This record gives sequence, structure tokens and C-alpha cells, in this order.
Amino acid sequence: MPLSISNPPQQCRWHCFNTTAELEQAATQAILQAALQAINLRGTFHIVLAGGTTPRRVYESLRKADADWAAWHVYFGDERCLPADHVERNSWIVAQAWLNHVAIPLTQIHLIPAEKGAQAAASAYAHTLAGIELFDLVLLGLGEDGHTASLFPGHELGNTADAPAVIAEENAPKYPPQRVSLSAHRLSAARKVIFMVSGAIKQQAVGDWRTGVAIPAAAINPANGVDVYLEAALLA
Ligand code: 6PG
Repeated sequence: MPLSISNPPQQCRWHCFNTTAELEQAATQAILQAALQAINLRGTFHIVLAGGTTPRRVYESLRKADADWAAWHVYFGDERCLPADHVERNSWIVAQAWLNHVAIPLTQIHLIPAEKGAQAAASAYAHTLAGIELFDLVLLGLGEDGHTASLFPGHELGNTADAPAVIAEENAPKYPPQRVSLSAHRLSAARKVIFMVSGAIKQQAVGDWRTGVAIPAAAINPANGVDVYLEAALLA
């Protein structure tokens, strides 16, 4: 009987920036660099997008980038169960900021069909992801309670090897209650993971994270570790 080898502890690299603008600029450059590397090596770039408001200006910056968009495949780390054209859908926010303005083929923008409801959308998206073993880059945010994507404290995180790729969340503490989220295990199947964290409201979650509290963000455990881009003030 093989020994059960627990996951190694999450490796976090903390990148501190004096201003939000510097954080956003660095994140934009890291995304474009990851894309160049993936496309040069494998001909495609598979990126998972973060929801929420923090990444918006990064997405707006990408609108102006000179990139090989035809090689990009876009996925979403989570989605809110709202109508497809609802202004609070992560896909709608990203489309307005970026995707509507660049030539990524629509067949390569893989939306989570969250308008179908959490369970049906989770099943459908698991099929969408079946062909992708490793994402090239996963972008994530951090909630003030330590959540990431739609993985919330005390709720199913899917952080075991046998976890489903996609989780239906029916009772999220952050509106809307019905959401779909890639599991922690699936989000960890990535060559690179970047968290973007800004806003004083996140200070407690950052402090918990750095002192070893098992917040959901700490369950994202890719082989190469995670890079956390945050405002230096959050470490004070
Ligand atoms: C969502 C997001 C969520 C978000 C964090 C941070 O759908 O709400 O996926 O995980 O990234 O809540 O949100 P802000 O960037 O708006 O602070």
C-alpha cells in the first residue's frame, strides 16, 4: 500500500508594488510574456481569467496589446449564475474591457454557460476542459474572506486529487449565491498561477494567508507555486 503523500505546502512568491497601477502594469506584462513563451513552445496559449473588479484595468490594457490572438484560448475560473448578458457576469465584464476589442476567435473564448444553472453549467464546462491537461496561466483574485474564484471558506474547494474539475456552488456568501467554479485541484493544473490582490479590504485575508491560515486561496497548489501580485500596503 503506497504511503499517502500529502500535498507539499503551497509555494507563494509575494510581489509587492507601491501603487495599483504598477501592479496592473506588471501583471499585464507577465500575461503577455507567458503567452509569448507558450505560443513559441506549443503554438497555443491557454489562459484562465479571474473575475471581479481587480483585473479590469489589466484586461483593458490587454485590449491595446500586440499579441498573436489567434493562438489564445480563454477560459473562466468561475462564473456567476446570471443571464449571459448580465452586467455582473464575469464574462460580460471581461468582454466589455477586452475580448470584444481583440481578434481572439469566438470558438476559442470558452464561456461557462452559467445561465443554465450551476449544476448543468458545471457538467458542461467539465467537458469543455477535458481536453486541456495544463493551463498555461491561471489568473485569480482574492476575496476579503480569503475566497478565490468561487471557492469560499467552509464550502467545497475541490482540493483533492479526485475532485471534480468544476464545482456547482449553490449558496455562495458573495452575490449571486449560485455560481460555477473550477475546483482548487483543477485551477492548480497550471504552469503558472498569478493572484492579483488590491484594496485595503483584503489586508486581513493576506495576513491570514501569510500566517498559514487555510483560506481557499491557499488551496491553489500548482507544482511551480503561485505568484501573488499585491500592494505593499497590504503587508503593513
Ligand atoms: C467573482 C470572482 C471573485 C473575485 C474576488 C475578488 O466572481 O466574484 O471570481 O473570486 O476574484 O471576490 O473580487 P474583486 O477583485 O472585485 O475584489
